Amino acid sequence: MVEIKEINFINFRNLDDFNIKFESGFNLFHGKNGQGKTSILEAIYFTATGKSFRTSKVVELIKYNNAKCGTYIAFKDREGEKNLTVKFNDKKKDYNFNGKKVSHEEFFGKINVVIFIPEDIELITGSPSVRRKFFDEEISQAQNEYYINLKNYNKILKIRNQYLKEKKTKEEIFSIYENEFITLAGKIVLNRMEYMKNIGIILNLNYRKIFDDKKELGLSYISNIEYSRKDTLKEIEFKISEEIKKQTLLEKKYGYSLVGPQRDEFKFLLDGKDAKSYSSQGEKKSIVFSLKLSEIDMIFREKKENPIFIIDDISSYFDSNRKKNILEYLKKREIQLFISSTEEIEIQNKKFKIEKGKIQEEFI
Ligand SMILES: Nc1ncnc2c1ncn2[C@@H]1O[C@H](COP(=O)(O)OP(=O)(O)O)[C@@H](O)[C@H]1O
Ligand SMILES: [Mg+2]
Repeated sequence: MVEIKEINFINFRNLDDFNIKFESGFNLFHGKNGQGKTSILEAIYFTATGKSFRTSKVVELIKYNNAKCGTYIAFKDREGEKNLTVKFNDKKKDYNFNGKKVSHEEFFGKINVVIFIPEDIELITGSPSVRRKFFDEEISQAQNEYYINLKNYNKILKIRNQYLKEKKTKEEIFSIYENEFITLAGKIVLNRMEYMKNIGIILNLNYRKIFDDKKELGLSYISNIEYSRKDTLKEIEFKISEEIKKQTLLEKKYGYSLVGPQRDEFKFLLDGKDAKSYSSQGEKKSIVFSLKLSEIDMIFREKKENPIFIIDDISSYFDSNRKKNILEYLKKREIQLFISSTEEIEIQNKKFKIEKGKIQEEFI
């Protein structure tokens, strides 16, 4: 089991500089709105991944009127004790793993984190790109190879679009890029479909177990190209290259790529109906939460180790009945949890009160 032992931060958001020691199981942060609860969860997430779940501009994380910020976590996994540090200012981020400077690529994935924030409802209500980004990140977390393929694919896609825009498709190099484009696109599609198949089964089980055993929740991968679940990599590549041939004239006309996984979609289906258009607010929330639990299961499958789980503002999101089901379920699992809430909740192993950025441990 992965477990964060402690966190340290300097100049992070509104928080007073602090060193917190955590417990396995439930770690609760409670306090009124605007006190810094989300900021603590953000500090944990940021140190674990090098990214924030609230902003892409890290400068926003630095406490007002300060020039730099630093965070540190010590954690333990199957292999032993490890630590991660991020130091940054408005220009530069430095990542350290066990005291050694590393690139973000090396840093990312050392500790797996699943997060649930109220804004995650966007995964249902938002545009297809929200779901694409989510699943891309999830598969990347579970499979490093996917992360690298996707990164390379995005680079080639950009170059390919540039050539299309500048009408340089006759250059020899364009066809070399095109081969690489198709190979990477094929791998991405294959990986995504495999992931969808696996997480789809788990998602349905989780939804039924915790929220509603009278409904079926499905997840489907949608593309202009008719893929089949039985397709091999070669077959997928072939379909992509055939589709590119069909779209050639239009691609040249518009000046960008019209084929590839960057245009595919993911859909949640509750009893066969698109959740985005037909499900109630409560159902949407339950779907998203089940999805997050399924992510945990998928990470466990790939890494044989549970990730840590962060839940922001649970009390504002779920009614007391749903909240009870969720907490009861989580209690049974070997997982380290970081929860924030405006109310106190019954189950906890460690409890902190947050007031105006000041964190205080309350002894139970
Ligand atoms: N970079 C920053 N420096 C100082 N304060 C900040 C910074 N960014 C946000 N804040 C403030 O931190 C406070 C706490 O925010 P937040 O963690 O979201 O509270 P909570 O989750 O408890 O409602 C807010 O009042 C916000 O204005
Ligand atoms: Mg908050």
